[in-house]
Amino acid sequence: MRIDVISIFPDYLSALDISLIGRARQDGLLDVRVHDLREYTHDRHRTVDDTPYGGGAGMVMKPEPWAEALEAVAADSPVERPTLLVPTPSGTVFSQPLARELAEHEHLVFACGRYEGIDERVFPWAAERFDVRLVSLGDYVLNGGEVAVLAMVEAVGRLIPGVVGNPESLVEESHEDGLLEYPVYTKPSSWRGHDVPPVLLSGDHGKIAVWRRAQQLERTRQRRPDLLAEEPSA
Ligand code: ADE
Repeated sequence: MRIDVISIFPDYLSALDISLIGRARQDGLLDVRVHDLREYTHDRHRTVDDTPYGGGAGMVMKPEPWAEALEAVAADSPVERPTLLVPTPSGTVFSQPLARELAEHEHLVFACGRYEGIDERVFPWAAERFDVRLVSLGDYVLNGGEVAVLAMVEAVGRLIPGVVGNPESLVEESHEDGLLEYPVYTKPSSWRGHDVPPVLLSGDHGKIAVWRRAQQLERTRQRRPDLLAEEPSA
């Protein structure tokens, strides 16, 4: 999979050099390219923002550098219509089903906004070349899209075959079946007065599976009842 990230803080994305995603890049499973939006400015100050029409607090990202950066990335795309993901608190909420869908795409492009956001005209313009998705990590406000991109690239990247060593570990995970994950334990079986639930030491795999499912349901009911109100995802 090819991933391009456009940001005014390319160093922020250096975390993509390490851990599972870093290894996937070294192994050739992921081709991640980070671009500095300021490379697409033409003034001495490399200006990427300006004051908002209509007044109001903060600054808005100018459309011109975005258009040039996106044109350059689109021209270099391995596909006809790459997917453009724009992290923003006013997008639809990113989820495991969306991560699964995006993991099937050949080329993802992330546009990291800062300040009060990107000039709105960039999105209909970009829709001529890209499938544009505005996505939010959740109902809170970050300073920019970079942290959201790190989260989304990790969530998508780990679903690409070969990125996670043991593919079975992908299945038994919170949100994969629409429920939270069951609790996990390792040795020692008794630790500072806390014991591992005896069923896990029983060797009875049928019983263990039933217990784990019950734990998943109970946890989800307690912590995320909203998930139980939704249609289960396959
Ligand atoms: N940029 C700023 N806040 C964000 C959020 N909650 N999700 C995604 N991108 C953002």
